[in-house]
Amino acid sequence: MLTTRPVAYLTRRHTEAVEAAFAEHFEVSVNVGDVPRTQSELVRALDHCDVLVPIVGDPCDEALFHHAPCRTTLIANVGVGVNHIDLSAAARAGIAVTNTPDVLTDDTADIAIALMLMAARRLGEGERLVRSNGWHGIAPTHHLGRTLRGRTLGIIGYGRIGRAVAARARAFGLRVQWVGRTGGSAMPDREMAESLETLLATSDVISLHAPATPETHHLISAARLAAMKPGSILVNTARGTLVDERALAESLRSGHLFAAGLDVYEHEPKITPALQGLENVVLLPHLGSATVETRTAMGLRALENALQWFSGRPPQDRMI
Ligand code: 8YV
Repeated sequence: MLTTRPVAYLTRRHTEAVEAAFAEHFEVSVNVGDVPRTQSELVRALDHCDVLVPIVGDPCDEALFHHAPCRTTLIANVGVGVNHIDLSAAARAGIAVTNTPDVLTDDTADIAIALMLMAARRLGEGERLVRSNGWHGIAPTHHLGRTLRGRTLGIIGYGRIGRAVAARARAFGLRVQWVGRTGGSAMPDREMAESLETLLATSDVISLHAPATPETHHLISAARLAAMKPGSILVNTARGTLVDERALAESLRSGHLFAAGLDVYEHEPKITPALQGLENVVLLPHLGSATVETRTAMGLRALENALQWFSGRPPQDRMI
């Protein structure tokens, strides 16, 4: 039987609920092997599907759009960050792009707080100690971390996730200050720091929540790390390219920074070797949105965008 349903190409496996929901509305092609697609596989997909449903690990760069025009008219990304998609090249190829904001805000903010606690209280190190049979009982001076209560948290990037982190941090007794785009219409806010430099020099914990753009590449450079308070903590749940990882490793090794907590990496999924050898850095495998609930909500949000697009309505999360 011939079908007229549009074809959706899911570059990775998704939760059962998401795959089933896509299958209700589309002819679905799923990457059942669940390994990252190569560029030539993505190029072929653009010729065979109407909507490509990628994740952050699928580079949709200029080269991918070279052979346009192609069959695909929509890239419905599963994720809020779209730094892996060359938006201008997609626009030139006549392809619309959507993302999935809102639904991952809370889980990602939770991971930022978890990393702060893990880094400040040396929890990863403690876990490694127990697992390696290196723990011989509690002692008043062993394995002491730092308390977060009463400290100052500096948030870089005060959008949805930055604000959700601020709300949680206040409940943990942290003072909050932030820098970010104010959009011109923001009300005066006593928590807004005078400048990035002031924020770096006066925060005990810095948490990154800015998007990856050419402007934010190595925002946390060697010089900015040196400008952070001695004994402070850096947390990154945004994108790895915001941090010069080699400079961070040196800052952690020298003891200038007390600790760091990372969920994202400059050359993801490769980790700078100098970081892997350090005890005072917590390394998570990009878990920000990794709950059944949130990954399902993200997939369904991508589906909603695709349904809007194919029914001729403007998708709610259209980026271009
Ligand atoms: C992952 C994220 O990208 O939404 C984002 O921007 O960083 C993460 O939630 C997503 O889980 C996979 O695409």
